Amino acid sequence: MTARVPAVWPANPLRDPQDRRLPRIAGPSGLVIFGVTGDLSRKKLMPAIYDLANRGLLPPGFALTGFARRDWADEDFGQVVYEAVKEHARTPFREEVWRQLSEGFRFVQGDFDDDEAFDQLRRTITELDEKQGTHGNHAFYLSVPPKFFPVVVAQLKKHGLADPPHPDSWRRAVIEKPFGRDLPTAVELNKIVDDVFPPEAVFRIDHYLGKETVQNILALRFANTMFEPLWNRSYVDHVQITMAEDIGIGGRAGYYDGIGAARDVIQNHLLQLLALTAMEEPVSFDADSLVAEKLKVLNSIKLPDDLSAHTVRAQYTGGWQGGELVCGYLEEDGISPSSRTDTYAAIKLEIENRRWAGVPFYLRTGKRLGRRVTEIAIVFQRAPHLPFDETATEELGQNALVIRVQPDEGMTVRFGSKVPGTAMEVRDVNMDFAYGESFTESSPEAYERLLLDVLLGDAPLFPRWEEVEASWKILDPIEQYWDKHGRPDEYVSGTWGPGTADEMLARDGRSWRRP
Ligand code: BG6
Repeated sequence: MTARVPAVWPANPLRDPQDRRLPRIAGPSGLVIFGVTGDLSRKKLMPAIYDLANRGLLPPGFALTGFARRDWADEDFGQVVYEAVKEHARTPFREEVWRQLSEGFRFVQGDFDDDEAFDQLRRTITELDEKQGTHGNHAFYLSVPPKFFPVVVAQLKKHGLADPPHPDSWRRAVIEKPFGRDLPTAVELNKIVDDVFPPEAVFRIDHYLGKETVQNILALRFANTMFEPLWNRSYVDHVQITMAEDIGIGGRAGYYDGIGAARDVIQNHLLQLLALTAMEEPVSFDADSLVAEKLKVLNSIKLPDDLSAHTVRAQYTGGWQGGELVCGYLEEDGISPSSRTDTYAAIKLEIENRRWAGVPFYLRTGKRLGRRVTEIAIVFQRAPHLPFDETATEELGQNALVIRVQPDEGMTVRFGSKVPGTAMEVRDVNMDFAYGESFTESSPEAYERLLLDVLLGDAPLFPRWEEVEASWKILDPIEQYWDKHGRPDEYVSGTWGPGTADEMLARDGRSWRRP
């Protein structure tokens, strides 16, 4: 490897404003997307670029280069971005923003193993440096299936694209999940990237970390006094983290089959949510301090002794969902009728440290469930004594604090209150905080925040390799156990998952929340 320049920019009052209310604006830079014809690119990346430009957070000469096999001219690529922006952008379309942004669009046609195409990419980037003033600063976004990582990364190195052309410029690699399908494959992938880019130039995307509500876990816990004293084994009975989706696998059979729900979202999104919920207060919110605390949690996770009793995986069968009759997983296009891939997974984990010893964390996720909702529920112990008649508290449940990650972003506190009337009767009520009511501005999309951070070289919201490694160490034994033990259970589309998941909690004297 040649000498590297720091991936962090020198201080610039616009980019690193002392006043935190001023926007953070990216310096001269460009983004190259591999896999530009894919869904992620059209639905998330292109609209996010436009939204950033519209919010004035991109430099005037920002460049977006697409790389793919299609026989497109720059204008055809521009048209694809235009349609994606029109359909999916969050902010209103403004002609002048579009006109300026589209001046920086380029398209390079080729296969990933095509040397001529990568030479062309190098020439394109050099030309952009001159015409658009991108100053040699380019991020390469690998929105491609993992099997193509090695060739793309090798080509970037071979064609001198991974090396910053001068001491104050940078090159960065952005990697989409999945980071492997188990620890050995993740190690393999990491080695490939690590041989070409220094660790501080590698940005692994976990888009959940870009969500406002996920970042708010830190604000909620560490900016207030009233929650943290209760946030431990003395008061918390258990924690439930749910990521439910109402969609099936759509057109993603090729990716999803053989991967399944646990690898797709528990290994990354749900374990990150768990780490943020359970970690100690970091020294600061810089990447090193955050990672250090998250890692301590991930490395303290204990798997259940009996995986058959405390893990569940299942597949959806056909059923009614939202007024529509949908097919089962095994009938989906591109899925083998004998597939054993999980579309639902639930696991019980414990964290072996002083704060959490003995408090179960239940994680569940699934496709084709009752509705789309992601939430973290901290369920508290019952009051040690209730000075009421038994009948007065029949309808009193456990106190809970629920962080609603999406949709309907906000927080709910559930507690007991007297029912109006002459008798003393106590029943659960909710107190709500909703983003939509408290703030006038809508939250940026996760990819807006993450793409901007890549261009700024800000690493706190990107999982480090050590976290990826620790997460696979948690999941691998469970996947291995499932592999050896028959077929997944079944659940009907549109329901809240298999009966076995309810039994899993019932064994502990608990039940899942109905979100
Ligand atoms: C992705 C998974 O990471 O997250 C998908 O691969 C899933 O299977 C998606 O549908 C859900 O993201 P969101 O932001 O809609 O909750």
